[in-house]
Amino acid sequence: MNRDALKRAAALRAIEEIEDGMVLGLGSGSTAEFAVEALGKRVAQGLEIVAIPTSERTAALARRLGVRISSFAEHRRLDLTIDGADEVERGTLDLIKGKGGALLREKIVAAASARLVIVVDSGKLVDRLGERSPVPVEVTAFGWQATAFALEKLGSIPRLRTVASGEPFLTDGGNLILDCDFGPIDDAAALEARIATTVGAIESGLFVGRTSAVVMASEEGVAMLKGGPA
Ligand code: 5RP
Repeated sequence: MNRDALKRAAALRAIEEIEDGMVLGLGSGSTAEFAVEALGKRVAQGLEIVAIPTSERTAALARRLGVRISSFAEHRRLDLTIDGADEVERGTLDLIKGKGGALLREKIVAAASARLVIVVDSGKLVDRLGERSPVPVEVTAFGWQATAFALEKLGSIPRLRTVASGEPFLTDGGNLILDCDFGPIDDAAALEARIATTVGAIESGLFVGRTSAVVMASEEGVAMLKGGPA
């Protein structure tokens, strides 16, 4: 099975968790988009839900598929969010997210959700966060070099994310992203807290203690890993 087939398989299992009347969070990235596509089909068959998307791209896809879009103006709490991840730590199910640049909205939506279900292929599972992916940190454009210096002092090698033209990548909120290579992370909760108190840093892609379940697809099939408090 190719990677897209695995992503689709995980997404299809995750959307079985959706029930009539739910307020949903819709994640970002290719795996989450498979879930939105499958959700669109269920909506076409009569499922009644409203959804808060975590990026403009996901919002556009959901609208195209006839999914009713809502916002925090109407709903403070969500029943369930389905999202992807860049790394999932074995055992803790803590995450690195944000390769797609949507980490701030993703964390706001995750924090407001009763359940966060993560959809991945087995290639995303790691023994320790930071093994393969840098930690994306959304920062203000003003003074980003000073923020990068502060993140370097925390033990990372920060790199400003750019697009193909060489211009800085801009998030949906108009901010910058520093991809911070910390190597394997010993204490993700402590690091998340330290980044959160770094002036100029808006949010990090470390998601600690937020995952309710991970739906992981591999050549052997689809497994539901349970964990976290939420
Ligand atoms: C976007 C994210 C994505 O969920 C993450 O990058 C995984 O994406 P994909 O499913 O395409 O591998 O956090 O900000």
